[in-house]
Amino acid sequence: MSILVTGGAGFIGSHTCVEMLEAGYDVVVVDNLYNSCAEALHRVEKITGKSVKFYEGDVCDRALLRTIFSENEIEAVIHFAGYKAVGESVKKPMMYYENNLISTIALINVMEEYGVRKLVFSSSATVYAGDNTVPLTEDMKLGAINPYGKTKLFIEEILRDLCASNSDWCVALLRYFNPIGAHKSGLIGESPKGIPNNLMPYISQVAVGKLEKLNVFGNDYETRDGTGSRDYIHVVDLAKGHVKAIEWTLGNTGCDAFNLGTGKGTTVLELRNAFVDVTGIDVPYVIAPRRAGDLDEVYALPDKAKRVLNWQAELTIQDMCEDTWRWQSNNPSGYDE
Ligand code: NAD
Ligand code: UD1
Repeated sequence: MSILVTGGAGFIGSHTCVEMLEAGYDVVVVDNLYNSCAEALHRVEKITGKSVKFYEGDVCDRALLRTIFSENEIEAVIHFAGYKAVGESVKKPMMYYENNLISTIALINVMEEYGVRKLVFSSSATVYAGDNTVPLTEDMKLGAINPYGKTKLFIEEILRDLCASNSDWCVALLRYFNPIGAHKSGLIGESPKGIPNNLMPYISQVAVGKLEKLNVFGNDYETRDGTGSRDYIHVVDLAKGHVKAIEWTLGNTGCDAFNLGTGKGTTVLELRNAFVDVTGIDVPYVIAPRRAGDLDEVYALPDKAKRVLNWQAELTIQDMCEDTWRWQSNNPSGYDE
C-alpha cells in the first residue's frame, strides 16, 4: 500500500516524502515540475535510502491519475500540488482558480472512482479573516483577501461538502503557518524561482550574496519592535505533521481542520537577527514601506493538532536558521547547480 503525494517534488512535499518514507510508508509522487525539479526526489532517495515512484504530469489530467491509481495500491493521498504566489494570484486569478481548483476536483473524482477516500490537504493560515485576534484557532472566522487564499478557502468548502455527502471520506485540512528551514542533511530545501517573495528565502539569498539587502516591509506595526510578526515553523516539523495527519485519516471519517504552527510569533527583525547570530553572516537591511495586505501579527494556537493528531512542533528558530543556511550555502542556486 502506498501514499500518493501530489506536488511531492516541491518544498514541503519533498520533506514530507522523507518523513513518510522514514515512517515506513511507500510513496508515489505526481508532479508536473512547474515549480520544482526531479532532482529533489533523487535527493529524497539519497537521504532515506528508499525509492520513490515518480510520475511527471499534471494533477488536472484525469487519465494520468487513473493510470497512477491503476498501477499502484494507493491507500491515501497528500495533496500539495498547486500554485502559491500571492502577488501573482492577484495578477492572474484565473491561472490560480484553474490550477488549484481543477486539480483538486480531478483528484477527488478519481479517488472516488478507485474507492480511495483518505485525503490530507495543504491549506494555509491565509484562510483566516484578517480581523480575528491572535492566537488563531480553527473555529475562527474565515475570509481570504487574494485569489490564492480564496482557492484554499473554496477547496476547504468543497472538501467539507464532500465529507458531508459520504461518511466514508476522511479529510484533514492542514492550515500551515510560515514554513521555513530545510532538512538537516542540507540536500533538500526551498528553491524559489526568481526573486523570493517570502522572508526567509530572501534573507538567505542576501546572506549568500545573490541579493544586496533585505527590505523590511514596515516598522510601525503593533508588535514588539514594530516589524511584522509571524509563526515560523520548521518544514521538517511540518512534514511530520503530515505523517500524523495520514494516520488520523486512516482511522477516522469526516473533515476537520488543524493549525500547524508553533504558537509563537517572531518579528522580521528577530528572524533576521537570529539568522545573523546563528550563521555569523551579516544581512544588511533597510526599512521599506509596508506591503499591501500584510497583518501586524499572525500566530496559531496549535493545541488541536496536539490533542487530536498527537503532533507538536519541536524545532526552534535557531534550528530553522541553521538548517536554511546549510541548504542555501551548499546549494547557492538551489537545484539548478
Ligand atoms: P511548491 O511550489 O514548492 O510545491 C508545489 C508543487 O506542486 C511543485 O512541485 C509544483 O511543480 C507542483 N504542481 C503545481 N501545480 C501542479 C499540477 N497541476 N500538477 C502537478 N503538480 C503541480 O510549494 P510548497 O511551498 O511546497 O507548498 C505546497 C502546498 O502547500 C501548496 O499547495 C501551497 O499552496 C501550500 N502552502 C504553502 C505554504 C508555504 O509557505 N510554502 C504555506 C501555506 C500553504
Ligand atoms: C505570505 C502570504 C501568505 C502565504 C505565505 C506562505 C502575503 C500577503 N501572504 O505570508 O498568503 O500563505 O506567504 O507562502 O503575501 N517581509 C519583509 N521583507 C520581505 C519579505 C517579507 O519584511 O522581503 C515581512 C512581511 O511583511 C511579513 C513577514 O516578513 O511581516 C513574513 O512575510 P512572508 O514570508 O511573505 O509570509 P506572510 O506574509 O506571512
